[in-house]
Amino acid sequence: LFARPCTFFYASQAINQLPPLAGPEVAFCGRSNVGKSSLLNALTGQKALARVSVTPGRTRQLNFFRCDEGQLTLVDMPGYGYAKASKTLKEDWQGLMFDFLRGRPTLRRVLLLMDARVEIKPADRAAIELLSDAAVAFQICITKVDDVKKPQLEKRIRELEALVKKRTAAHPLMLVTSSETGQGIPELRAELAALAG
Ligand code: GTP
Ligand code: MG
Repeated sequence: LFARPCTFFYASQAINQLPPLAGPEVAFCGRSNVGKSSLLNALTGQKALARVSVTPGRTRQLNFFRCDEGQLTLVDMPGYGYAKASKTLKEDWQGLMFDFLRGRPTLRRVLLLMDARVEIKPADRAAIELLSDAAVAFQICITKVDDVKKPQLEKRIRELEALVKKRTAAHPLMLVTSSETGQGIPELRAELAALAG
């Protein structure tokens, strides 16, 4: 699936500006700074495909990347839970995120990213609620595992498993990844390849 380069082809700032419905889409969703853009780059093997930043709130729109001539489209989403964002900005982001997640028929799966280093926050729980309510298939993907010790990672995995256990929309396989070391990237690619048209 990622033999040929993926290309950026669309940015949306509002729900009425989405690209036309075409092939299957997978969205990358999660807290600001969780590593969504980095994971997209690691996954495609293209270092500069999506913009990565140490400043949270870097990605401010839905960015669509077409892979293998549209066999799969990856969507980099703005992060939630960004404390410094203005209230209007927050509402705009959340509105767009919510509308997209609920109302996009070609959206095949949402990867919900969770930072291995950070406690599960209320905004993460809210995201799980939202995805469950929207009945969109989602899969937890733990990020930055290069930066935690094994016991901490295992604790986080147990917490997340407990959190999604009864959610029918949750994919049973939890991904454990690092964009730095490449851990879990082949598994993620395999998941995505299975969704491609
Ligand atoms: P927003 O667009 O602001 O929501 O952020 P994002 O979720 O796209 O995060 P981004 O990929 O921009 O990464 C945020 C920071 O985390 C950067 O400083 C990255 O270098 C760092 N980072 C991302 N992935 C990893 C990882 O696997 N391991 C480590 N140690 N750091 C990472
Ligand atoms: Mg980003």
